Amino acid sequence: MEIARRLFAIGASAHSLPGEYDDNFHLRATTGSEFVLKIMHPDRDRGFVEMQCAVLQHLAKNAPELPLPRVVPSADGQAFVETKIEDGSKRLIWLLTFLRGKTLAEFRPHSAELLEELGRFLGRMDRALESFTHPAAHRELKWDAARSAWIRDYLQRVSELPRRMLVQRFLGLFETEVVPGLSLLRKSVIYGDANDYNVLVTYGPGSAPRIAGVIDFGDTHYGITVSELATAAAYAILGEKDVLAVAASVVTGYHREFPLTGEEIALLYALIGMRLAVSVVNSAHRKSLKPEDAYVTVSEAPAWEALERWAKLFPRFTNYTFRAACGLVPIAKAAAVESYLKKSAASPSSICEYDLRSENSVVLDLGVGSTLLGGDPSSAETANLSSAISGALKESGARVAIGRYDEARLVYSAPQFGTSKNPTDERRTIHLGIDLFVEPGTPLRAPLAGVAHILANNGIPQDYGPLVVLRHATEDGEEFFTLYGHLASAALQKLHVGQAIAQGEVFAHVGDVHENGGWAPHLHFQVILDMLDRGADFPGVARASERSVWKTLSPDPNLLLQIPETRFPTAAQNAERLLAARKNLLGGNLSVSYAKPLNIVRGWKQFLYDETGRAYLDVYNNVPLVGHSHPRVVRAAQGQLSLLNTNTRYLHENVVRYAERLTELLPAPLRVCYFVNSGSEANELAIRMARATTGCDDVIVLEHAYHGHTNTLIDVSPYKFDGPGGRAQKPWVHVAPIADDYRGLYLRGEENLGARYAAHVGEIAEKLRKENRRATFLAETLPSVAGQIVFPEKYLAEAYRHVRAAGGVCIADEVQVGFGRLGTHFWGFETQGVVPDIAVFGKPIGNAFPLAAVVTTREIADAFSNGMEFFSTFGGNPVACAVGLAVLDVVRDENLKQNAKKVGDYWLAGLAELRKRHEILGDIRGSGLFLGLDLVRNRDTREPATPQASYVVNRLRECGILAGTDGPHHNVIKLRPPLIFAESDADLFVQTLDSILMEDPAQPDR
Ligand SMILES: Cc1ncc(COP(=O)(O)O)c(C=O)c1O
Repeated sequence: MEIARRLFAIGASAHSLPGEYDDNFHLRATTGSEFVLKIMHPDRDRGFVEMQCAVLQHLAKNAPELPLPRVVPSADGQAFVETKIEDGSKRLIWLLTFLRGKTLAEFRPHSAELLEELGRFLGRMDRALESFTHPAAHRELKWDAARSAWIRDYLQRVSELPRRMLVQRFLGLFETEVVPGLSLLRKSVIYGDANDYNVLVTYGPGSAPRIAGVIDFGDTHYGITVSELATAAAYAILGEKDVLAVAASVVTGYHREFPLTGEEIALLYALIGMRLAVSVVNSAHRKSLKPEDAYVTVSEAPAWEALERWAKLFPRFTNYTFRAACGLVPIAKAAAVESYLKKSAASPSSICEYDLRSENSVVLDLGVGSTLLGGDPSSAETANLSSAISGALKESGARVAIGRYDEARLVYSAPQFGTSKNPTDERRTIHLGIDLFVEPGTPLRAPLAGVAHILANNGIPQDYGPLVVLRHATEDGEEFFTLYGHLASAALQKLHVGQAIAQGEVFAHVGDVHENGGWAPHLHFQVILDMLDRGADFPGVARASERSVWKTLSPDPNLLLQIPETRFPTAAQNAERLLAARKNLLGGNLSVSYAKPLNIVRGWKQFLYDETGRAYLDVYNNVPLVGHSHPRVVRAAQGQLSLLNTNTRYLHENVVRYAERLTELLPAPLRVCYFVNSGSEANELAIRMARATTGCDDVIVLEHAYHGHTNTLIDVSPYKFDGPGGRAQKPWVHVAPIADDYRGLYLRGEENLGARYAAHVGEIAEKLRKENRRATFLAETLPSVAGQIVFPEKYLAEAYRHVRAAGGVCIADEVQVGFGRLGTHFWGFETQGVVPDIAVFGKPIGNAFPLAAVVTTREIADAFSNGMEFFSTFGGNPVACAVGLAVLDVVRDENLKQNAKKVGDYWLAGLAELRKRHEILGDIRGSGLFLGLDLVRNRDTREPATPQASYVVNRLRECGILAGTDGPHHNVIKLRPPLIFAESDADLFVQTLDSILMEDPAQPDR
């Protein structure tokens, strides 16, 4: 490009960049460096360019760590040059270094960490700009927040009335809140244009995305400092569901680098809304001038949507959230009210006639992990819940049962607690009051003097039944409220709003079951610092993600009631505390899943729940075969445990019945059973039996295999002995290549794969035979740890034939795949048309109750029965066998094998569709509900996409789906859900995976 060479002595090729007004070019110099050449519009003012150069030079000096474009001086040392160009016009021309990165608008996902970093970037920049001045920065600009009211004259451009009213609402807020407070706000030169097309992001393999800089300093102006943040937040929330959380992340980062004042935080809600309002009016105006120009209206639709979402927030709640995001007390008066409540802690019988501080009351656990309620959600149906509570009350002999404050509960089913169709979306679970379960009609006394503020007799949205809110004030005049829900409506008739209520005065009575939607009679008692103008519609239950703010808004009523904390059963621990304790108390190599570990406290069917009540779809736990907490399995275990649990040295019907049922499902000659407690114990026993038969120690195993954690099993598990901390392969262990037709020696599509792979096993067996040694061949029937492998046809048949011909014994490790999971067959070995000499069962056999089994032939059993007693203390105990029987019953009665086939086929079809769109899905394999997604960087080379696979499972977890990786490269996503998995679950998985695979860190070419 001639200009670059002439003015800046740079030889470069140039591409024009999109722009509204000036001519910008991307230059690639012959040296490889990249630049942006800016040829300004002829009408541009010199001061405007001078100011931009000065601001960038100031930032280069005062915040050199920020990646920002740098001004490249011209050949004669000037920041910009004025010259005549080809078309004869006189132009101001300057050159900047080029920043690499993807725009935030195009980059996905916007994690909380990335948004916080954006805030930090801008905070750091504004801190450096505090000391910057330039006359040209004092300019008239439509994006200057202080001047936003210009949109009033353009409101008519917004044709739809509801939208115009929405804009008007923020305009009104701006005029009543921001304008009068303008003098309180800091002013400085700001960049002023952190929109999502100006913010750049970079990312690399396995590393978190980072802000790579901001570009386009054309809106730099002297204005309201905090509007920098408001602009960034307004654009950050575009396209987001949880707009408040997104904005709060940006606020957190900004405040960390450049602390905000209370006044600034208080006006953020209005400023963010107003920035969006200016944007939509500006688009409407420009559209009216240039109806066809797409550039003008790029962000119009998302801006409207964001504005509509923003308008649904409660402004003061938003302020409290932002304060919390800044690490400030969300509500300034919180400490004063709390200390007032403590001071006024009423006399023991203050709120009702019972002494809540004595043994006369019992504290109930109604939390997510409550064993009183169990996993079955029907326990939360009102009638069941009420009878559980009444039962617990009766059993304790107490007069009052207390329901805890700040308890995460899954008992709320009304639509307002969560209306999403996606079962893993966050619901409201955190209880903000204390419940007192008492006799209906129990009189209530005002614990503090107050004034009746709200009286609602019936049918109010938050499901409190008839309710009263009293208004109070501290000695210093700080106003707060107490709320009493589930009252008797008749007695409320006598009260009127504004009526003074004395401390200790009986002002209401607890309602009966009918008045409270079937709930056991109780009082819901809540303290509220700010009613948020919501009237009787004030929530009593909050989302866990907003827990800390709601807890300040509704502090612990026990400050007033003073029920001794020692009487509260331990509340659910949060994940961070548990992780710390675990690190301290348990072995360091006990691994924990996910970058953000989960604290799971409840399971039901194919769902697991963390301590906050968030549901996760479990797509990889093959152990809960028939679903978590299956009632028939639970009843079997509980029933037998309440009667007898001993060992196999006594005769007991369960063990015999279970052996009968299990062998009925197995082909002859597998007829003799041994029961133990884990897959490892079973494999260990199977190897002992095989050795008793062969008289030799030699074991042939497959590459990458895992068979258990005992000494012998580590020795026969290449996954372990070849991995970190492993010791050398023992001379009696022989490893054959795994018959993996996607990554192995011979690939899908070639001839006779099964026989060719099996020949390797044959070779080893034959070599041993020649040395008069007989081998034990131990292999999974569909290897899971090795990467969800499906053997080629006839592989096991051929391998077994070779081993047996050489006098060996074949063990099938069915620990992962047995019991109908494969859909087509009940056992993995059946899919290969073989019958092993010894079969080993574990994991799903007891639906997570410790149970495992070895089943073999009479001949091997006899060889094993060589005089040494076999005894496993817990193996085959009556409870384990009762559980095993129940599992088999459920698999049969609920047609789970058939379901695995049906849903598995449906899921595979959905995944095959995805594979058409996502190059990273190299191979999709498996059968029934045993599937694997082999992620590759390149379908031709099949290079494993390991960091991407790890990214995908962690993102799935964030989106409420639990999956894991397997395979020697940890790039295979394993899918092995409980067999009750439904087509709707498969749909949820496919849709979620589809959107994650579109995210930048999941791209194969990272
Ligand atoms: C194939 C296989 N065999 C045996 C075991 C060992 O079972 P457990 O952990 O119950 O001892 C496992 C466990 O992951 C396994 O995957």
